Amino acid sequence: MAVSKEHYNSALADIAKRKQSAEAELELRRQAFGQTEPRFNVVDSLMRESGWEAVRIIIEKPEDAKAQIELLKTRNLALQTELASLLAKHRLPEDYLTPPYTCPACSDTGFSEGFMCECLKSLMRQKAFEALNAGTPLELSGFEQFKTSYYPEEGDFGISPRTAMAQVLKNCKSYAKGFSLSSPSMIFLGETGLGKTHLSLAIAKAVIEKSYGVVYGSVQDFMYRVEGERFGKIIGSDTTKLLMDCDLLILDDLGAEFVTQFTVSVLHQIINFRLLSRKPTIISTNLSLDEMEAKYGERIVSRISGNYKVVKFFGSDIRVIRRK
Ligand SMILES: Nc1ncnc2c1ncn2[C@@H]1O[C@H](COP(=O)(O)OP(=O)(O)OP(=O)(O)O)[C@@H](O)[C@H]1O
Ligand SMILES: [Mg+2]
Ligand SMILES: [Zn+2]
Repeated sequence: MAVSKEHYNSALADIAKRKQSAEAELELRRQAFGQTEPRFNVVDSLMRESGWEAVRIIIEKPEDAKAQIELLKTRNLALQTELASLLAKHRLPEDYLTPPYTCPACSDTGFSEGFMCECLKSLMRQKAFEALNAGTPLELSGFEQFKTSYYPEEGDFGISPRTAMAQVLKNCKSYAKGFSLSSPSMIFLGETGLGKTHLSLAIAKAVIEKSYGVVYGSVQDFMYRVEGERFGKIIGSDTTKLLMDCDLLILDDLGAEFVTQFTVSVLHQIINFRLLSRKPTIISTNLSLDEMEAKYGERIVSRISGNYKVVKFFGSDIRVIRRK
């Protein structure tokens, strides 16, 4: 996943903080242990001295260093054994006197064996998600705030919007609760103000809480970024890649963007890639499938209608109802 330098630097800074606090924690443990078990201080300083001794031997008497070092090694082993038994005596874990790093693989340096560690990569991914999702009002649009009383009991064609929307809410809740990388994709269809964005955000929030990488945004905003990056106006990030790679992509308000050959081809690319790699996507739109076909072509729409769960929204504009 491509990320900007800003995310890289900020992830490195976080990792440096982790290292610092692991080492500070170790210092506290050493002091506390030294107080309850004074023998620890003796063993500890003998171990330190033997390290210094080894250096001195190599520098001052290189001719018989080998034998001397062997001797030191034996002494050191004995000290280590004693230290282990001191820890055991106080029922402390064996690794009590090693820094409690968040990532033991790289000792919180971000690199292991010359390669970028998974912990650094994952932090950078998280930074990229946070940046893309910044400004999204997740708090105001939870499942708790979603009321079915806004939808009328009686509707056209014998369908009760309230009953239908109660079912939609229930499905969205269970989708969020049971979310996994093999969850299906969904498309939310319905007129303006029926709660499509609200429920998308509620799902986003719940899935983020399960620690998945969720990217939410309007198609318009994404296209603006993708275009800016492609034509060199925005540098250092790769939105297309992020949209392809994230665990759950929520494309809000398809159809509200300015449609060009370029945006259509980017959408194709993202939707196809995610279908092929079986990554869940949620699209919401107030276009009908026919209108979508006219705008984006038959190919993309048949892909969506063949592979996405279609979720229809009913009722009348809740923005208007709430103003009354
Ligand atoms: N069932 C609901 N309970 C409480 N608030 C709701 C409900 N449905 C929608 N709202 C609120 O009404 C406003 C409009 O809803 P929302 O933005 O989700 O509609 P939409 O279907 O996405 O519309 P558009 O197609 O115009 O994007 C939002 O402030 C949303 O929080
Ligand atoms: Mg919306
Ligand atoms: Zn690591």
